[in-house]
Amino acid sequence: MKLFDVYPLFDIEIVKGEGCYTYDADGNKYLDLYGGHAVISVGHSHPHYLQALQEQASRLVFYSNSVINGLQQRLADKLGKISGYDDYQLFLINSGAEANENALKLASFHTGKKRVLAFGKAFHGRTSLAVEATDNPKIVAPINANSHVTFLPLNDLDAVAGELAKGDVCAVIVEGIQGVGGIRIPENGFLSGVRELCDRHEAVMILDEIQSGYGRSGKFFAHQYSGVRPDIITMAKGIANGFPMGAVLISPKFAPVYGQLGTTFGGNHLACAAAIAVIDIFEKENLVENARRVGEYLMGELRKIPGIKEVRGRGLMIGLEFDYPVKELRTRLINEERVFTGASGTNVIRLLPPLVLTCEQADDFINRFKHALEA
Ligand SMILES: Cc1ncc(COP(=O)(O)O)c(C=O)c1O
Repeated sequence: MKLFDVYPLFDIEIVKGEGCYTYDADGNKYLDLYGGHAVISVGHSHPHYLQALQEQASRLVFYSNSVINGLQQRLADKLGKISGYDDYQLFLINSGAEANENALKLASFHTGKKRVLAFGKAFHGRTSLAVEATDNPKIVAPINANSHVTFLPLNDLDAVAGELAKGDVCAVIVEGIQGVGGIRIPENGFLSGVRELCDRHEAVMILDEIQSGYGRSGKFFAHQYSGVRPDIITMAKGIANGFPMGAVLISPKFAPVYGQLGTTFGGNHLACAAAIAVIDIFEKENLVENARRVGEYLMGELRKIPGIKEVRGRGLMIGLEFDYPVKELRTRLINEERVFTGASGTNVIRLLPPLVLTCEQADDFINRFKHALEA
């Protein structure tokens, strides 16, 4: 059987990881400034994480959501404390798209409305509502194009006000920092303006923190730089360091209804053990602060390099915009300098390393990066 060929692949097989490094099948060692697309938060093969997974796997991998799973409450307690959202409720699923799907559904149940406001260059996932709220017609199939979503320019509060005034909007969904869209930080005042408008028009404010959350920005959630408290926050990627998991944080104003949301695999025992181990490591190693400190250092060093049009981002979510397509540069970085990076569109390199990156590793990256630029 052939694989369904939807991924343009680098000709490399990664077979091992350790901290901020990965190794290919030929034994070559790579510095990982991509974190497997922002997923590796506590580093590859962290000993505490591996031990937690092994211990849980030897006890119980899975049982259904029809019985008590004490690990879910333990995770909720820890996540509430570390995120500053102790009073919110937690719903667990398996991916980012699923988190947004449930968030949008909940907003519609809550308000009885069905129009959504999203923003230019937004990415919210590939399932039905999530992809409809994603600003990329190439991945929206006719069956997904159901006219639920109106796209507005990011930072245009007048446009948001105009659409909300029509009274038919259930939710405004916005990323803490746009990732796929090229590392775009909402301007000062935009998120608090959206908050006010959502309150005025009884619409639900959903913060997609799937890429920008879980400490990556140097705060637990990127929107915490703006001081707003959204109604719903979605998470995935770094939450379980590569074990598939997504999560929705839901404000106390939403009353749960039996059977309204549900999942077979979401919040399973092994996933919860992985997510609890991740928070243990965040606390012990102060990873949110590390992301802030090392990210600031890395951006400072990158800004000294001539030829980069713009360096932008927060913490360890960094975009490097060039005047030219970056495909060749990324290929040189992988094949010659043995560094993994990501991309956004054609001209932006995206850095999304594990949050355990050190300043020494950042220096190592800078040297390899300069070398690749000079080649
Ligand atoms: C901001 C954002 N939302 C949603 C998603 C979708 O997550 P998943 O691929 O886990 O469905 C992504 C994935 O890149 C993302 O970056």
